[in-house]
Amino acid sequence: MVREIIMYGDPVLRTKCDPVEEVTDEIRALADDMLETMVDADGIGLAAPQVGEPIQLAVIDVSLAEDCVSYLRIDGKEKSVKDCMPLVFINPQLEFGDTKENQEEGCLSFPDVRGEVRRPYEVVARMQLLDGSTIRVETDGLLARVIQHETDHLFGVLFIDRMSAAQKLGLKKKIREMQQDYVR
Ligand code: NI
Repeated sequence: MVREIIMYGDPVLRTKCDPVEEVTDEIRALADDMLETMVDADGIGLAAPQVGEPIQLAVIDVSLAEDCVSYLRIDGKEKSVKDCMPLVFINPQLEFGDTKENQEEGCLSFPDVRGEVRRPYEVVARMQLLDGSTIRVETDGLLARVIQHETDHLFGVLFIDRMSAAQKLGLKKKIREMQQDYVR
């Protein structure tokens, strides 16, 4: 089932989400709905708070951009992006490489807002899957960026928070309007 995507201004997007303690049928159904919602919205990532559920669950699918990473290792083994998508994960913990990169980002909770965000280029992510296993994902490029963007959502952090002051200045009016639309 496609769910309604929560727009910026709703306080749920600022919630520090609870870890998922137990993968229930309800969580599995929510994950399926999130995948459907993400595809329906032409997105490459969606976090549970964006459908109004403040828990540490997110979905990613970057398989349309197969060459978006220069490497991807899962538990130390080389993988192709396609083999690992869609990626549904809970309770992520991230470590970052030292190199940072600017790239344009968007977010399904901010239609019409795009801007450059500076983030570490490489990431090591420990995450749990719905089957109860824990995996270690090492990657770079777009996948590393989306993992960071979705993990941020789970801690109430939004991409506008990571934009430069100059970037934000240009988007200020749009962002303020979104906040006001919500209040109204
Ligand atoms: Ni987002």
